Amino acid sequence: MRVTALLLAAGSGQRFGAAEPKQFLTLGGRPLLRHAAEALLQEGLVDELQPVCAPEHAARVAAILSGLPARPPVAGGDTRQDSVRRGLEALARSDTPGLVLVHDAARPVVPRGTVAALIAALDSAPGAIPALAVTDTLKRCAGDAIEATVPRDGLYRAQTPQAFRFPVLLAAHRAGHLGATDDASLLEAAGERVAIIPGAEENVKVTIPQDLARLEQLRRATLL
Ligand code: CTP
Ligand code: MG
Repeated sequence: MRVTALLLAAGSGQRFGAAEPKQFLTLGGRPLLRHAAEALLQEGLVDELQPVCAPEHAARVAAILSGLPARPPVAGGDTRQDSVRRGLEALARSDTPGLVLVHDAARPVVPRGTVAALIAALDSAPGAIPALAVTDTLKRCAGDAIEATVPRDGLYRAQTPQAFRFPVLLAAHRAGHLGATDDASLLEAAGERVAIIPGAEENVKVTIPQDLARLEQLRRATLL
């Protein structure tokens, strides 16, 4: 069954605050986008990448992905959810895959074994994501005061890549729920089962400069 990975690179990196979107910043001399692409392909289980980016970055994205099995970039939208939807619709119009992965270009490290575990989990559920149990004590606050302590039992942090049976994810996006910050939540809204597999601390989503600094430290310590 064909496996295609959507590689999301249409964000503008407002929170990071760099001169260019964070997916183009480098780690060890290579753009985060390139790291993310190679991480998805490392196990040989993903047949091709479908990048999604701003139209003005299409040539740059294609150049960064040169030599890899990548389709021409598709134009993203105003929100992450829009960008995924546009990528899925592009796949639906051509060589429709059986399985689709959705991954943030801002996550340069996907440990080996993750993609295999996700694909295996799709045998028994239409969706699967890597997730890490929450370890900090959680507080619900109003302004600068605590209202309550939220029990953390059963709470997890969701990561990407997230994997889905393609027709189920396409239908979930077409159902039109708004405000999703990941793709699993759209399946949850549709009452579909989403499995979790172990996530990884080193699968950092670069959001603020400290995230990139942490990855540089890990790389220098040859932990990556
Ligand atoms: N993304 C996208 N299209 C959007 C928004 C986000 O493809 N309209 C992508 C980003 O490029 C990133 C991933 O989704 O790889 C996760 O989003 P996020 O970390 O929020 O990135 P940005 O939106 O770029 O950052 P910010 O929210 O700080 O502006
Ligand atoms: Mg964003």
